[in-house]
Amino acid sequence: MQPACSIALGVIVIICSCNVLSDAKVRASLQGETAPRTPGAVYRCLGCSPNCGRCLATVRTIITEALNESQNPADASTCCKAVNVLP
Ligand code: FES
Repeated sequence: MQPACSIALGVIVIICSCNVLSDAKVRASLQGETAPRTPGAVYRCLGCSPNCGRCLATVRTIITEALNESQNPADASTCCKAVNVLP
């Protein structure tokens, strides 16, 4: 199954214009056993918070894709490791 986001094409797309978050940065935050599993946890992990909320559905889709790919969902109550992906 092809991911809904641009990573399949090798293109980085800003999915959250309020926080300038790319799909790649969100995906990177979802790596590891203690990765966030809710949109709110993703924002906290990346050091920001949702503003207008237009990106929430996209973040949820990316989380779902990551969980399906990993086959090993982690605890949603903990935060991810530091992520250094631009932008
Ligand atoms: S686009 Fe993400 S909070 Fe506005």
